[in-house]
Amino acid sequence: MYQFDIAAGSKPELYRDLLAALDALTAGEPDAIANMANAAALIWQALPDLNWAGFYRLVEGELVLGPFQGKAACIRIPIGKGVCGTAAATRETQIVADVFAFPGHIACDAASRSELVVPIVRGDRLIGVLDLDAPRPGRFDAEDAAGCEAIARLLADRLG
Ligand code: SME
Repeated sequence: MYQFDIAAGSKPELYRDLLAALDALTAGEPDAIANMANAAALIWQALPDLNWAGFYRLVEGELVLGPFQGKAACIRIPIGKGVCGTAAATRETQIVADVFAFPGHIACDAASRSELVVPIVRGDRLIGVLDLDAPRPGRFDAEDAAGCEAIARLLADRLG
């Protein structure tokens, strides 16, 4: 059993503790699926107000669903399509306050109202994206983006 002490204080504190827990949980484990599965579970457990949290992996030129928590989701997303495909194409974090205002947003869970997608890059290679969805508009801000970018940097070396 794993027990992690993740602060319920400020967002920076929350992400600091979450990052430390993810570091401990994935250190020394080379299996990408195991690490994505545990990371999705821990993110889901630690961050409030989410309806989906997980990974899409770059496989043969498109994004393919990886380990996640939440409702069953779209399996394949072309690069450049939707929020995930845009993050993958630009390699830039996407903070979408209102998914209905994002052209081409792909609705996997009808409950999603806002979304944060962070590219996971190792060296010059895109590994995939970390995708968080929330049931209320404006759930994600710059602190969430910074926290998830730190998570993506940590995991980049541990996802195969
Ligand atoms: N909404 C995403 C698709 C993935 S789901 O949210 C899990 C998008 O537009 O890329």
